[in-house]
Amino acid sequence: MMDEKSIQMEYINRCAALLKENLGRDPRFFIQNEGCQMNSLQTETVAGMTESMGAVRVMTEEEADMVIYNTCTVRENANQKIYGHLGHLKSIKRQNPDLKIVLFGCMMQEQHVVEKIRKDYGFVDLVFGTHNIHKFPELFYRTLTANSQIIDIWQDTDEIVEGLPASRKYKFKTGVNIMFGCNNFCSYCIVPYVRGREKSREPQAILREIEELVEDGVTEVMLLGQNVNSYGKNLAVPVTFAQLLTEIEKIEGLKWIRFMTSHPKDLSDELIDVMRTSKKICHHLHLPMQSGSSSILKKMNRHYDQERYLDLVRKIREAVPDISLTTDIIVGFPGETEEDFLDTLEVVRKSNFDTAFTFIYSRRTGTPAASMEDQIPQEVVKDRFNRLLSLVQEKGRENSARFEGTIQEVLVEEENREKGLMTGRTQYNLLVHFPGNSSLIGRYVKVKLDTCRGFYYFGTLLAQ
Ligand code: SAH
Ligand code: SF4
Ligand code: F3S
Repeated sequence: MMDEKSIQMEYINRCAALLKENLGRDPRFFIQNEGCQMNSLQTETVAGMTESMGAVRVMTEEEADMVIYNTCTVRENANQKIYGHLGHLKSIKRQNPDLKIVLFGCMMQEQHVVEKIRKDYGFVDLVFGTHNIHKFPELFYRTLTANSQIIDIWQDTDEIVEGLPASRKYKFKTGVNIMFGCNNFCSYCIVPYVRGREKSREPQAILREIEELVEDGVTEVMLLGQNVNSYGKNLAVPVTFAQLLTEIEKIEGLKWIRFMTSHPKDLSDELIDVMRTSKKICHHLHLPMQSGSSSILKKMNRHYDQERYLDLVRKIREAVPDISLTTDIIVGFPGETEEDFLDTLEVVRKSNFDTAFTFIYSRRTGTPAASMEDQIPQEVVKDRFNRLLSLVQEKGRENSARFEGTIQEVLVEEENREKGLMTGRTQYNLLVHFPGNSSLIGRYVKVKLDTCRGFYYFGTLLAQ
């Protein structure tokens, strides 16, 4: 029997032939990603499969024969963005009726969304979800051969299809999914409903993928999962995240390892110890606190309190003194009082984050928090949000500046819009702009960080 990957590769060939025949030239596709880094990785897989159909990527919807959106639904504004795009696409399709429109990802796992697309957006050709991304070639082939809207949403899957083609943004660094889904059910969050149960990839599959990436020029990987600290718990032979890191560290030619996201409830001493002794794990930890109030954290179902969070911050700084810490915070969770909010400000003051991503609570249909009493009025939330943002920015500026005057190793990523200026990143995830040329892209160079401008630096390249 053919395995799933071979079946889909066969459909890729069929799509390629059909597209070429229909158009008389190479097809052009436009693809866009919304949402988190795990989503963008899956966008790269769909882009890779589309390129394998012989399609060439274009930068505007107007030039394209296929428009593909990977959607997010973590907050209401992510949804609104997609409906906005669809309005625009409708008029493009009027000009070009052969245009194929494809929607997939998290938002498509919601029943009310799919109903709306079926009813109000009949011009969309193909809709699939988060569990059957590997089926894209087969589904797209059906779209090319049938003339009606195709919708295929799965509720969950046990299958992880390995080795599909992917189109990487950078040659020298990439994300690697180590697990899918989430079992945590934080009470505000839609992710477990649209991504399904937590599934870890086999360590051998991850190691093999990274080895191949390294052979292909990658020197930095970002290991991705909704809660990497619970990696491997449900494998037939359980493995901890710290053990996985230790194995990845041994891969020759790999230089920097990053990971995200760490849930505070599962951050182990073993992991802190691996971070302390590792030569490759970057000294940056994203540790979402969500709230500084123990009673709100309880209602959020986060399984830690203010004390435990501050204790973790202290432990990590003790083990890795130069660590850069970043976080996510939600403001305006149902029932949040002024005292709760002041607790959040206090934890921000004490934790010295380099950056904190701040979000206004967004009510997600179907989550427990959506039906909680005491939803907070918009004016109150906005006021708290602004107060939090100004503290976060003030502290961020202060903390990011701590490297001013030092010499740091920087991975050069790209040429700045301003010609002659390169942009690189330190292991602390801080951006540095410095005069140089594009031959440096993908290299690790020593840069003196001359001045800090808020969240980035201007620097000078040292003789290498
Ligand atoms: N798995 C990660 C978070 C993924 S979602 C973790 O647990 O840390 C990224 C961020 O979006 C979350 O950290 C949270 O701050 C924010 N978020 C999730 N649901 C939200 C909601 N309903 N309203 C506002 N922000 C939300
Ligand atoms: Fe959402 Fe919580 Fe899972 Fe993160 S850990 S994805 S916030 S449910
Ligand atoms: Fe959004 Fe889905 Fe990621 S809802 S944040 S794209 S897992």
